[in-house]
Parts: sequence; structure tokens; C-alpha cells
Amino acid sequence: MKIVKVKNYDEMSKRGFEIIKEVIENEKMPTISLNTGGTPKELYNHLVDAINNGLNISNTSFLSLDEYIGPKNSVYTVYNYMFNRLFNLIEQQPKKIFLMNGEAENIDEEIKRYKGILNEYPRDLQLLGIGTNGHLGANEPGTSFDSKMFLAQHTESTIQSTMKEYNISREEVPTEMLTLGMYEIINAKKVLLLASGKHKAKAVKNLIEGDITKNCPASILQKCPNAIVIIDEDAASLLK
Ligand code: F6R
Repeated sequence: MKIVKVKNYDEMSKRGFEIIKEVIENEKMPTISLNTGGTPKELYNHLVDAINNGLNISNTSFLSLDEYIGPKNSVYTVYNYMFNRLFNLIEQQPKKIFLMNGEAENIDEEIKRYKGILNEYPRDLQLLGIGTNGHLGANEPGTSFDSKMFLAQHTESTIQSTMKEYNISREEVPTEMLTLGMYEIINAKKVLLLASGKHKAKAVKNLIEGDITKNCPASILQKCPNAIVIIDEDAASLLK
């Protein structure tokens, strides 16, 4: 795991974006799996600007890390987030966009379908944020490091973050989410985790200096030479 310390959110977003840009420019058939949440918003602004200023994505395929179970057009879905913040704003079409279908009638079939895509499109980069409880995607504390794509149940802290992020009531927050498993997350060619802010400091400390334990899913990145963790000063504030 490589740790990159930067000053603030803006610098973190810029550095994260540059790594994604490098993958797009250097891989033959770049395949990038994206995440959502507050953390990568500015990174996506940089990506939109770059694409609209000529960064060629005609060979690039985009996948997603997770998806809520619920109607596609609900305010909280990964589908909405990705189209509103990236795909609807770019003036070029990527090669492919593969998102998970959170309204599939048969979830087992959906998992099978998406696993097929993962096999066909090995990821050059997996983008990640970290939950305040150390989760990655929807792999909450306690999830096995061997988990493969599955239907996850949210913990209370994740439900609370979703309510806050989308300004919705508890009843509106889905309690289930499709997610890539820990095994798939760490088996991308590059894993890029971004963290910013004092509220992430404890999780970042556990990720970097804690024991490698499924109680902090992100701690597995300590063992991953392919992982790059970009943290700002506030997120790094509890490190030794
Ligand atoms: C969402 C996802 C989540 C978030 C995490 C941090 O696709 O993968 O694991 O990365 O909950 O969320 P923010 O960035 O909102 O603090």
C-alpha cells in the first residue's frame, strides 16, 4: 500500500483524478470501476472537464462498485449519481458503461450477470472511499476478506450517512445494496482510495496503523501492493 498525503480535499481530488487520467491514457482498453458518495465529487468534476477538453475515452469502459436496491431513478441510486455527475455531462461516449441493476427482479441472476462482466472486463482501477466504520463499498465490518459480489445489509452508520448525504428520511433509505466483495475490490490492477476530513481520521488510522482485521474491511489494503491511498491533512490527523 502506498500512502500519499496531501493538504486538503481539492488536492486529494486532483491527485486522484491524475491517477485515473494516467490509466485512461496508458491502458489499451482501460476499465475503471467507480464509486459514489461525497468524497469523489470533485474528482468527477476534473474528469468531466478533461473529457470535454479532449481526453479520449473511446476505449474506456466504466463499471460501478455498488448499487442500492430500489427504483433506478430514486435520488440515492448509483445510477443517478453516475449519470448526473459524469455520464450526462460528457461530450464523448465511453466504450461501455456497466452499472448494476438495483431493480432487478432476480438478484441472484443480476449478481451472475455482473460477475460475468467483471470476468470479461478485468478492472485496471477500482476507485474507493472509506466509511467512518472502515467499510469499502458496502462491505461492512465483519465481512469476510474472501467475499465476492453479494447483496449486503447496511449498518446503522451507513444508513445515517445516506440520509444525510441525500437529505432523505430513514424510511426512504434502502437497507440493502449490491456490492462488489472484498475479494473483487482488492483484485483490481490498481486500487485507489481517497479520504478527506476529520470525520474520516479514525477510519484512516485503523486502515493504516490498525490490525488487519475484518472489523475494519479497509485494513486489508495494508497487504495490497497495488493500493494507493490519498489522504488529506484532516483525515491523517490521528496518524502517529
Ligand atoms: C459508495 C461507496 C461507499 C463510500 C463510503 C464513503 O459507492 O462505495 O463505500 O465510498 O461510504 O462515503 P463518503 O465519500 O460519502 O464519505
